[in-house]
Amino acid sequence: YNKKRIGIWGFGCVGQGLYDVLQHNRHTALEVASICVKHPEKKRTLPASMFTFNPQQLLEDASIDLLTELISDPEEAYLLVKQALLAGKSVISANKKMIAQHLPELIELQQKYGGRLLYEAAVGGSIPILRTLEAYYGNEPLQEVCGILNGSSNYILSKLHEEEISYQDALQEAQELGFAETDPRLDVGGHDALHKICIIAAHGFGALVDPAKVVRLGIEHINTNDVKLAQALGTRIKLVATARLTASGKLAVQVLPAFVKPTSELYFVEAEFNGVLLEAKFAGTQFLKGRGAGSHPTGSAVWADVSAALGGYKYNYAKIKQQHLSIDTEGLITIY
Ligand code: HSE
Repeated sequence: YNKKRIGIWGFGCVGQGLYDVLQHNRHTALEVASICVKHPEKKRTLPASMFTFNPQQLLEDASIDLLTELISDPEEAYLLVKQALLAGKSVISANKKMIAQHLPELIELQQKYGGRLLYEAAVGGSIPILRTLEAYYGNEPLQEVCGILNGSSNYILSKLHEEEISYQDALQEAQELGFAETDPRLDVGGHDALHKICIIAAHGFGALVDPAKVVRLGIEHINTNDVKLAQALGTRIKLVATARLTASGKLAVQVLPAFVKPTSELYFVEAEFNGVLLEAKFAGTQFLKGRGAGSHPTGSAVWADVSAALGGYKYNYAKIKQQHLSIDTEGLITIY
């Protein structure tokens, strides 16, 4: 029988991760039809026939069953994903910035033209957080989701706590290990964690949050003295993203560095790992932890989406249709 053919836009850290993961599972009913890259002059490990330099070619290739968008430029990614959805095609994306900024339109395009868009790899790397929110929290009233959602920031902070290393060197390591964004200011400025918590707010609370309106502070001003103070207090500094229903029924969203105590599971989330705490009315507290960045963990999450999409899975966005939560843009003062 025929294998399902996938087209890949982008062959950076995530695209190569996806390719590797697929190669290790040759028995799957999937094959890579074509990979679209930007720079013809770059040396590649795969035969030249696998590559195209024209993004439109993947959209026009009728033999492709599913598209995956794994490029870093959010504007370019938006145009490609939009074109795919306008043509009623299904597409997988790992581009959190693009999704957080365009979610209302992307939902509309799916509903209007029938293509589906999955983006589990965009939030929490290998952690199946969106699937969990959709599958297990459809009816359950969530009260809070809070977590460590940027692997690079967490890697840097962990290094600063563990050893004598400068902030710059720790950041460079995070870049060399393939955890950081092309522009690492997105990581250390808290933007990346913010995009992820906004996506979580949509799937968990049905709230479409404009990232530009959320209280956000990154880790770029944290220094060795702050780390020493945290340790003296028996805590660790973590970059924590939170979405929480307030007493007045609004959804408060924020991204801030926090002193985290060992009584919280987040304290033990180290290096590039991510961790998400879910607090719900009936289920109580749940905690998910896994690799939040890196080529193979993220490639694995994309693969899970590819299989799910081919199997007919789609997000139902039911909460967005039902709920009209207003957003508390003041942020929260939180003691963890
Ligand atoms: N730069 C991101 C991070 C990659 O450090 O978490 C995963 O989304």
